[in-house]
Amino acid sequence: MANVVSKPNLKRGNDRLSAVDKFPELPLVMPTQITDDASSESMQTPNSSRDIHYRTTRKSPFLPSLFNRFRVLTGAEPDHVTTAYNMLRTRLLQTLNDAHYRSLAFLSPTANAGKTLTAVNLSISLSREVNHTVLLVDADLKHPTIHRYFDFTPEAGLDDYLTNDEEIENILVNPSIPGLVLLPIRRSLPNSSEFLSSPRMTVLSDELKNRYHSRIIIYDFPPLLACDDALAFLPNIDACVLVLEEGKSTESELKESVKLLRHHNLIGTIVNKSKTPSSRAY
Ligand SMILES: Nc1ncnc2c1ncn2[C@@H]1O[C@H](COP(=O)(O)OP(=O)(O)OP(=O)(O)O)[C@@H](O)[C@H]1O
Ligand SMILES: [Mg+2]
Repeated sequence: MANVVSKPNLKRGNDRLSAVDKFPELPLVMPTQITDDASSESMQTPNSSRDIHYRTTRKSPFLPSLFNRFRVLTGAEPDHVTTAYNMLRTRLLQTLNDAHYRSLAFLSPTANAGKTLTAVNLSISLSREVNHTVLLVDADLKHPTIHRYFDFTPEAGLDDYLTNDEEIENILVNPSIPGLVLLPIRRSLPNSSEFLSSPRMTVLSDELKNRYHSRIIIYDFPPLLACDDALAFLPNIDACVLVLEEGKSTESELKESVKLLRHHNLIGTIVNKSKTPSSRAY
C-alpha cells in the first residue's frame, strides 16, 4: 500500500503534483488532554430536550479483515502505515488544539483522492489515543461510503435526520472501536447542497460541536470542484484539510481549491497515495 504523507512543500512536474512546496504548514505543538468515553457519554446541555445518549448507540463489529479488504487501520497494518497516520494525527491535533478548532472537513479537488479512507484512518488513529474521541460524519450525500469502510448497512442516516426528522441518537453507530462514533448516511439525496446549507444542518453542527465538548468532529465531503456541497456547509466547520493524490491532482486544481477555501481555514494538505519514500524514515 502507498503511504499517506503530510508534507508542507509542493514540487511541480508536468502540472501534476508529485510531492509538495509552499503551502500551509501544520505547526508542531503538543496536544492538550481531552478525556471522554464514547460508549457511555450522553450529550450534556441541561436545558435541551434533544440530548443524544450514546447508551443507545448501535454497534457494528470491527474485524481485522477490514485492513486487507478496505485498507482500514485495524492493528493488522504494517508499521510504516500506522506511523504515517500517527504523524498526520499528531500534526493535525497540534493545529486543532492550538487554534481551539474541534470540527474538521476532509476535502479534495476531484474524486478518488482518498478523502474518505484518510478521514476513516485518521479518526481511528485519533481514537486510539486514550485522550481523544471522535465523531466521524458522512457528509457526502451524493455518494455516502463511510459505512462501507466499516462494512455495515446503516439502519438510519443523516438523510433520515434531514428528510424524516429522525433523532440523531437513532443514527449514530459505534464501530466497536472505543472512542469512535460514526454518523452514517443510509441513502443518497438529490439536491444535496440545498440540504447541506439548510438550517437543520446548521442546528446539527452546532449541537454536535457545543455538546460534545471533548470530541473532535470530522466531516467527509464530496469533491470540492465537482459540486458545491462542501462549500454550502463549510461556514459551519472550524477548519479544513485538502487531500491531494500524488501524481493525479494538478497544480491548477490545487490553486482553484485554495481560492475557493480562502475564507474557510485551510490548515494543511495531505499528499495521499504517495510513492515517494520518506527521507526521514527511522
Ligand atoms: N493511501 C492510500 N493507499 C492506497 N489506496 C488508497 C489510499 N487512500 C485511498 N486509497 C484507495 O483509493 C480509493 C478511493 O479512496 P476514497 O474512497 O477514500 O476516495 P475519496 O476521495 O473519498 O473518493 P470520492 O471523491 O469518490 O469520495 C479507494 O479504493 C481507497 O482504498
Ligand atoms: Mg469519499
